[in-house]
Amino acid sequence: MQVLIKGGRVIDPGNFDALMDVFIQDGKIVKIMTPDRPHPESGRGPFEYKVIDASGKIVTPGLIDMHVHLREPGHEYKETIATGCMAAAHGGFTAVCAMPNTKPVNDNRRITEYILQKAQKADSVRVYPVASISKGLFGNSLSEYGDLKKAGAIALSDDGNPVMDSQLMRKALEHAKEFDLLIISHCEDVNLATGGVMNEGPVAARMGVAGIPNVSESIMVERDISLCELMCAPVHIAHVSTLESVRAIREAKKRGVPVTAETAPHYFTLTDEDVEKYNSNAKMNPPLRSPKDRTAILEGLADGTIDVIATDHAPHSNVEKEVEFDQAANGIIGLETSVPLCLKLVEDGVLTFAGLVEKMSKNPVRILGLENGLTVGKPADITIIDPDISHTVDAAGFQSLSRNTPFDGWQVKGKAILTMVGGKVIFSA
Ligand code: DOR
Ligand code: ZN
Repeated sequence: MQVLIKGGRVIDPGNFDALMDVFIQDGKIVKIMTPDRPHPESGRGPFEYKVIDASGKIVTPGLIDMHVHLREPGHEYKETIATGCMAAAHGGFTAVCAMPNTKPVNDNRRITEYILQKAQKADSVRVYPVASISKGLFGNSLSEYGDLKKAGAIALSDDGNPVMDSQLMRKALEHAKEFDLLIISHCEDVNLATGGVMNEGPVAARMGVAGIPNVSESIMVERDISLCELMCAPVHIAHVSTLESVRAIREAKKRGVPVTAETAPHYFTLTDEDVEKYNSNAKMNPPLRSPKDRTAILEGLADGTIDVIATDHAPHSNVEKEVEFDQAANGIIGLETSVPLCLKLVEDGVLTFAGLVEKMSKNPVRILGLENGLTVGKPADITIIDPDISHTVDAAGFQSLSRNTPFDGWQVKGKAILTMVGGKVIFSA
């Protein structure tokens, strides 16, 4: 099977930003060339190409969401690996990292293998399992990193819970380095955060609910930077939401500390002022912060302090969301709204298109030690984006099993229109 993606603006930072044709054969990229050059096979007999017209569109290396909750095994009523993969494909992602807070927890090779088997059966986007740092996510003892690595885990995280014990985190960094596994840290001092249900500040005071202070995140970011520096082992900070965290990461990077960081579209799109409007669909952990924090996140994205945009796709059922605010589950879905929300950063001049491709593809690939990019001889994992199409977010039509999004009904611009994994089109609008 041969495919030609014709006439799109091909953006692969460091390699291309030009109108190019991309030739794909047997799942791999075989040629990338300017459209006016002669066809590589011309004069060599009949060659049938399935042509995908990408004129007016952007062609990028496959987008990767390195922070997704697929919920299987154990919470299949919220999402399954198959539905989560479909949501990812429709959102323009060719790969996702699956967080380990499933039931049972992904803290052993049996669960890692189970996730990979289910992903293979789904035959859709690539799934990279993230195993837990600690057994059962309890924060007491380390999971078996050697076993997990052999089974196919790509990174380690207790996401959903912090590793409160600093000695255990130090050991985790030491062992993770030995097995070349990245530690992804959920930074939250539970002693400072417990009882809070949204950002601490005037909005929480007005709503009469207990707040979660910025420092509950940033104190742990500072701790992890210190441990990262001590152990010379990389740490990736998950879902950065505060100004103080951005500042700490920026300073650490200046010193050469191997820390990297991600934020999610909701932290640069919304603030705690939106919580009143969207209620439990604007409830997540860490919470939406103040306008000042949102500005700091935007600055962190623009200056490279924040390397990655990941969704923290966290599906929950209506039963878990349609309750009193303080009882509602934390988390929102994000796979099917990420691209338009991120394109707004380009429209607003925060990032260039190339800068956005770095945050959504190149940097996750580099941080996770994967191979990707529009490279001849490599698997054709490609996303095609229409940056101009205006549309209304319609959660009822989502592939995800859950509907917990604050963006339902939003008027947005731009979307992924084709997702290709290993040369196979897994989504086409
Ligand atoms: O809002 C969140 N939801 N934050 C987390 O850390 C966990 C996640 C989930 O699993 O639902
Ligand atoms: Zn998460």
